[in-house]
Amino acid sequence: MGKKLKIAVLAGDGIGPEVMKQALDVTKAVCEKFGHELEYKEALTGACAIDAYGDAYPESTHQLCMESDAVLYGAVGDPKYDNDPTAKVRPEQGLLAMRKKLGLFANIRPVETFECLLHKSPLKEELVKGADFICIRELTGGMYFGKKQEPVVNANGVEEAFDTNYYSRPEIERILKVAFEYARKRKKHVTVVDKANVLASSRLWRKVAQEIAPKYPDVATDYMYVDNAAMRMIQNPTFFDVMVTENTFGDILTDEASVISGSMGLLPSASIGEYTSVFEPIHGSYPQAKGKNIANPLATILSAAMMFEYAFDLKEEGALIRKAVQASLDANYVTEDIDKNNAHSTSEVGEWVVNYIKKA
Ligand code: IPM
Ligand code: MN
Repeated sequence: MGKKLKIAVLAGDGIGPEVMKQALDVTKAVCEKFGHELEYKEALTGACAIDAYGDAYPESTHQLCMESDAVLYGAVGDPKYDNDPTAKVRPEQGLLAMRKKLGLFANIRPVETFECLLHKSPLKEELVKGADFICIRELTGGMYFGKKQEPVVNANGVEEAFDTNYYSRPEIERILKVAFEYARKRKKHVTVVDKANVLASSRLWRKVAQEIAPKYPDVATDYMYVDNAAMRMIQNPTFFDVMVTENTFGDILTDEASVISGSMGLLPSASIGEYTSVFEPIHGSYPQAKGKNIANPLATILSAAMMFEYAFDLKEEGALIRKAVQASLDANYVTEDIDKNNAHSTSEVGEWVVNYIKKA
């Protein structure tokens, strides 16, 4: 029996709309093939929403997300805001507002390596071969959302500012549970990343983790300081299976992790929580490539695969998308980030994947 898929499409800025078009075409092809009914609506977020509404995550966009079963998300950001610390509204605020309002406390970023791309990795092939782990990043707490003081001159005439790395027990418990449940479906190994030798908030993380770990006796748990984890990820990426950490550490570590596979243009993500889940490539808005039809659409296409699997429990559909992406890589039918001398455009790669799915 076919399902009804109600999706909100937030293409955003930069290359967002171009890569989203390809992911949508893939989603349509999969729905057609498997007899699902796709109902999707588009809405603005990011710089384009600021231009239109003066708000990077307008209420109308939020309502659409709330009414949908899943959100496919492109990217937000525009260079005109990057070097203006005084800008009152910024595209990234839209992303943060969406995370908070949808209660997206868990950001899941799988780091997979593709055999045919190993030579593109900045790491030695033998180190990165077989690396396959997921980073689970807490997404609605910590310094991102803690009490802040924007730059201000204090009573002593000194300019100061701060961010507070606040975490409560329930916030830590729920993200750790996500990590342990994931590990059960994988290689049963969780690495809790913190800075418990220095930070009070990290000591709470570790305390809570040490209480939860015994409830998952089938899962091996280890604890690692974030500085050490950053090093280990480069020296020995195959060590990891499920890595779980707070918002800020996760932001930094997932960028580091994203280049291991050889191309950032290949990595999808899912953000899950209290309301509708969001599926998003991790590469950002890549403004230099905007409108040039050169960006790699595969991360967004793989985000659509995650959407089928996670939001709709449609495993076969997700698997077919993955197979099609793998086939395009094997055929070296790729964008310029992967092969400069033999590059195809964003839309050509998207169409190749769609055709593969139709013929499968
Ligand atoms: C990410 C991004 C965002 C973050 C920015 C754009 C606010 O870097 O999703 O990792 O820092 O969380
Ligand atoms: Mn980031």
